[in-house]
Amino acid sequence: MKALRAAALLWLLLAPLLAVRAQALLDFTPTERALIAGHGPWPPAPVPDPSNRVDGQPAAVGFGRLLFFERALSADGTLSCASCHQPERAFQDGRRTARGRAEGQRNTTSLLDAAQRRWLGWDGAHDSLWSASVAPLLAQREMAASPAQLAATVRREPRLAAGYRAAFGAEPGPDHERVLVDLGKALAAYQATMVSERTAFDDFRDAMAQGDDEAAARYPPGAQRGLRFFIGEGRCSVCHAGPAFTNGEFADVGVPFFVPGGVDGGRHEGLTRLRASAHNRLGPHNDAGTADPRAVTTRHVVPQHRNFGEFRVPGLRQLVHTAPYMHDGSLATVDDVVRHYSELNEERLHADGERILRPLRLNAAQAADLAAFLHSLSSGGR
Ligand code: HEC
Ligand code: HEC
Repeated sequence: MKALRAAALLWLLLAPLLAVRAQALLDFTPTERALIAGHGPWPPAPVPDPSNRVDGQPAAVGFGRLLFFERALSADGTLSCASCHQPERAFQDGRRTARGRAEGQRNTTSLLDAAQRRWLGWDGAHDSLWSASVAPLLAQREMAASPAQLAATVRREPRLAAGYRAAFGAEPGPDHERVLVDLGKALAAYQATMVSERTAFDDFRDAMAQGDDEAAARYPPGAQRGLRFFIGEGRCSVCHAGPAFTNGEFADVGVPFFVPGGVDGGRHEGLTRLRASAHNRLGPHNDAGTADPRAVTTRHVVPQHRNFGEFRVPGLRQLVHTAPYMHDGSLATVDDVVRHYSELNEERLHADGERILRPLRLNAAQAADLAAFLHSLSSGGR
């Protein structure tokens, strides 16, 4: 009798828990389900880059990896790409702004999924991964080398010369500029292999797409509510769209763009640099020539007034591993970003600012749900 009563009591205690477990999937509408499916699949199909003739070739990937960790490519021999793009930190540096840059200047972007981006850099100053890889070799604030120095180093160092030969099937020739661009192309081939891992969100998204609601129900309820807000009322997915959670375009979300001594012109500055660059897709180094449809896009982008203070919409994958946030690294945590959108100062959105943005005025529970969803976009996240 006693045992029976104990069993009944146990059932009374457990039943609600079991019931909650069975009902743990929110009643997502067909529209919501379609929107959620649009944030996958992951990993995505690779985006081939015909402007880079060694894209996807193992020998170029190997040479690019060698170059990525090579300090001899910097003018004073102290920096490699990996000094700022650290493999153990999702290929960024965890700093507010990169070394050598003042407060208010640019935060180091993670290189994960960089091959998926249409425009490279916070300001979109590059239209290919290889030109975004040539630039840091030359930039004064980065590796500060010259084409002649770089070409001489590759010809001189037996390891580098052998890598070049394997990747390009020829000796590094006398044309410095050509060798320089080839270094960028090998670096790009390597970076194209940096694809971010699957996440709790991907398991949820796939389960739901396959109609396996039971498996989908394992995704934490807070993350589900945060996701519903993200694709709905919060209108986040207007910009943070698709499998990588970015539409690849540029926007102003009210992060101040005043920097010591002036303004960071963002996309306006980036477009001006893109058009002036000898390494854009319209130049002589595009291996796809004039047949490249993306060269046509580059020809047609023109800086407009509204581009002042616009920055690239970042992808949100692996977010917990890429703090701090925003182009200037001014927000330290995911919670700070949620607060930014919650309290958004509309006066900060400049005259041409984004009409879809308004302060969300989230309560504590809503903010926690949104943060839980954002955390679920990282592998090893909560
Ligand atoms: C001193 C630190 C530093 C070094 C060294 C450095 N980078 Fe960067 N990298 C940055 C910063 C900061 C940004 C963002 C710049 C911006 O958008 O204005 C960036 C952006 C990039 C991007 C654009 C990524 C994207 O998603 O748009 C690529 C590609 C890149 N770096 C590749 C490289 C390669 C390849 C090397 C070595 C040849 C290198 N970087 C060396 C700091 C560095
Ligand atoms: C109008 C387009 C737009 C909308 C809508 C939008 N974002 Fe953003 N988001 C951006 C841009 C642009 C940045 C980078 C801004 C900068 O650096 O100045 C950004 C940055 C972020 C970052 C920081 C990422 C990083 O790596 O630095 C997070 C997180 C984020 N947004 C989440 C959200 C959430 C959550 C919502 C909805 C509440 C949202 N965004 C709505 C465009 C948008």
